Amino acid sequence: MENTVGKKDKDPKFVHFRGIVKRFGSVTAVEKMDLDIPEGSLVTLLGPSGCGKTTLLRMLAGLEEPTDGDIFVNGKRINDTPIHQRNLGMIFQNYALFPHKSIFDNVAFGLKYRSMPRAQIKEKVKRALEMVRLPGVENRKPAQLSGGQQQRIALARAIVIEPDVLLMDEPLSALDENLREDMRREVDNLQRMLGVTTIFVTHDQREALSMSDKIVVMRDGLTLQEGAPEEVYNRPANHFVADFLGHSNFLPGEIVDQDEENIRVKIETGDVLLAKQRGAWKKGDAVEIVVRAQRFEVHRKKDFAPDEGMNHFAGRIKDRSYMGGEVSYFIELPSEREIHVISMMRTHTYDYGDDVSVQVSPYHCHLITAE
Ligand SMILES: Nc1ncnc2c1ncn2[C@@H]1O[C@H](COP(=O)(O)OP(=O)(O)O)[C@@H](O)[C@H]1O
Ligand SMILES: [Mg+2]
Repeated sequence: MENTVGKKDKDPKFVHFRGIVKRFGSVTAVEKMDLDIPEGSLVTLLGPSGCGKTTLLRMLAGLEEPTDGDIFVNGKRINDTPIHQRNLGMIFQNYALFPHKSIFDNVAFGLKYRSMPRAQIKEKVKRALEMVRLPGVENRKPAQLSGGQQQRIALARAIVIEPDVLLMDEPLSALDENLREDMRREVDNLQRMLGVTTIFVTHDQREALSMSDKIVVMRDGLTLQEGAPEEVYNRPANHFVADFLGHSNFLPGEIVDQDEENIRVKIETGDVLLAKQRGAWKKGDAVEIVVRAQRFEVHRKKDFAPDEGMNHFAGRIKDRSYMGGEVSYFIELPSEREIHVISMMRTHTYDYGDDVSVQVSPYHCHLITAE
């Protein structure tokens, strides 16, 4: 018998895009998207400018009509539901508060159409302002608040209506670096506290990695990969995703053979590297080995003795920049390919022209098909 005690199960398809296409004349903004947003989760749409993120949100919001496909929220098809009946909270990059209205009127805006008693509106506004940690600012005007505070007001305005879905389109990108970090945590905490299903759009990988339950990496109106942050970061499905998230190196090579433990890949330098990755590879397949810049170890060549089971190859320091806690190196391989290494400073810093040995674990060599 099923356990029916406790909370009802979360709907894994609380928001469901099915075969969504959007064309503007000859421009295809969204090519064909199938996407599920689980109830209560925070899902990030990540991708370069112009890949269709905003268009996808606008279709959910009712600001654009899909050319093809269906959108469901909480089991109901909403393609033909008017904007004001969709019950969505929205926050965009330029906070778009009404400058001449008080903070109270700004936050209460979405409630006024719900024929709610004034006392109840006041209580809800008060609670929303407390949630964004700006209690008591009801009578001020937006211009009397800082940029970060205004963005928190926008957040209060979006959550005060208790939306089914919270839509955020690059809400932090207008803020400066430090403030952004604070706001990122603010959004993250608030989302968890309220448990509101949230779609967050960004082109900033750090934002996406740090706050998402699921990341959807997009390019040219298509999903290239979706998964938990660890999944997308550690097991990128293709070159674009690997390149877009993190500092990735690509070593082109060819599959030599594989056994129970390792796949062996011959790279341009003639070195054969091991990768711990099962897959449908066969001898002769053209692949790229993806290695994060932080995963390489650099050693002085002349007294280097490789560790058991580790990959290693020779290189020469071409460039280095000291960055405080770490050193960034560009190292040229005998094949003239350069790799980027970010090294946590230990005892030694290498200089331009130094001959080095570079070591990397097979566990940190991730294979993708060469494009
Ligand atoms: N109203 C519009 N008219 C014509 N083209 C548009 C319109 N809105 C978006 N586009 C185009 O659709 C593509 C996706 O845009 P957008 O969804 O804004 O991307 P993103 O938010 O990922 O930067 C771009 O090529 C953009 O120029
Ligand atoms: Mg956009």
